[in-house]
Amino acid sequence: MTANRRIVFLIGLLLAGSPAGAWAAGNSANGEKLFKKCAACHSVAPGKKKVGPSLHGVLGRTAGSAEGYRYSKAMTAYGRSGIVWDADTLDVYLEAPRKVVKGTKMSFPGFKKAQDRADVIAFLKQYSE
Ligand code: HEC
Repeated sequence: MTANRRIVFLIGLLLAGSPAGAWAAGNSANGEKLFKKCAACHSVAPGKKKVGPSLHGVLGRTAGSAEGYRYSKAMTAYGRSGIVWDADTLDVYLEAPRKVVKGTKMSFPGFKKAQDRADVIAFLKQYSE
């Protein structure tokens, strides 16, 4: 019994101490709130472009490849370099979009907090099959 409890306790410690960043669990409800900052330029409705492309189905999509949207040369080149949007590539991009894709026309400074990025990515995941 005591040994079991100790193991449970140790696993708890391990989970609590696991690194944040790309591996933080995203909270999609909070992500929905954060998405308000994106919603000026992005919709999650399929094919609906605003200033930016629709983010419906963005996870699993090659960067710069939404049909019918005119990307900057920078974003098109980023996609051609082999970048596919997933939790990791989005995490990198959303921290500092204009540093990661130099010349992108997305004028959003980025989310500094890893948890904010994880939350908004969890929200976007709901719209990606
Ligand atoms: C001021 C308008 C604006 C805001 C705010 C904005 N974006 Fe963008 N976003 C754009 C534009 C414009 C592009 C196209 C970039 C290009 O072609 O260089 C883009 C591109 C993207 C892409 C690449 C899409 C693809 O099809 O490759 C992702 C992902 C993205 N935005 C996510 C977000 C998220 C998440 C937020 C909120 C945290 C956000 N954006 C906020 C305008 C914006």
